[in-house]
Amino acid sequence: MSRRTVDEITGGRRMRRNRGADWTRRLVQENSLTVNDLIWPIFLIPGSNRSEDIEAMPGVQRVTPDLAVRQAEKAAKLGIPAIATFPNIEIDLRDDTGSHVLATDNLINQTTRLIKQEIPEIGVITDVALDPFTSHGHDGILRDGIIVNDETVAQLAEAAVLQAEAGADIIAPSDMMDGRIGAIRDALDGSGFSHVGIMSYATKYASSFYGPYREAIGTQGLLKGDKRTYYIDPANTDEAVRDAALDVEEGADMLMVKPGLPYLDIIWRLKETFAMPTFAYQVSGEYSMIKAADHNGWIDGERAMLESLLAFKRAGCDGILTYFAAEAAQILSQR
Ligand code: PBG
Repeated sequence: MSRRTVDEITGGRRMRRNRGADWTRRLVQENSLTVNDLIWPIFLIPGSNRSEDIEAMPGVQRVTPDLAVRQAEKAAKLGIPAIATFPNIEIDLRDDTGSHVLATDNLINQTTRLIKQEIPEIGVITDVALDPFTSHGHDGILRDGIIVNDETVAQLAEAAVLQAEAGADIIAPSDMMDGRIGAIRDALDGSGFSHVGIMSYATKYASSFYGPYREAIGTQGLLKGDKRTYYIDPANTDEAVRDAALDVEEGADMLMVKPGLPYLDIIWRLKETFAMPTFAYQVSGEYSMIKAADHNGWIDGERAMLESLLAFKRAGCDGILTYFAAEAAQILSQR
């Protein structure tokens, strides 16, 4: 039997035609990453004019509120639409119930006030969860070995109102308690904050990729057990869709999938199902893997960073929370 020529095999259809030159590649490009897609997470420590390196996250620092304002300024200049703050709370302010989340002037709220005073044009997204505030590192109130749902929700709703009072534009609950979106919506509306949005960490998985974050906020030695009674099992997808459906019904304005790259299928499904503004959190472990491989000379870190961010766009994301935000924005602005 004679072998067919390539033209006989393809019928003359050649995919490489469109890939032949830079201009054709640009012309047929389906997705692109812009600075408008980026949200920059910032780690906070108390004090002033001080920053600390985070060993497991090369290039990322924890900063005091005054320096957080400078980071917000840098983000605004680069055109990054929003930042998201995460506090490293002093150990002696942490307790079993995370009560310091209800201090009007805690590190999150202090920083929001400062940023909104000085850089009002940038969006401030605040995380509402108890883990930075609890002595056991869980996202909820722990009683007799159980994370109690309803009591935690009541406290989170109160904390959300305080964050809105401080000037937060979007409240982002990352705790995965049942009913928290509806409770936070009611509390915000009832306190005159109907203009404050909710970005739900709708599908947050019980993931190993959060490791470096726990160093960053100082919960790594504290966490007793794991978070599998409230985060989603990495094996599940239908469960994620059902959980997101509840958040949509309860009033979420935006949905988030976390972690990012290992869960692109979930991003795709949520976008297809709900047609909501959908975000991914490229979490600490994802960041650190790329940085580590880059530092070892194993991959081109810059290209891997941009490729990973573009992958989120391809999967249907409207934006990405990423520790690469400033770095990526700088590169994008030079193009
Ligand atoms: C918990 C929370 C986590 C992250 C942000 N808020 C997960 C956790 O510690 O269990 C992870 C972020 C990251 O890894 O970059 N409310």
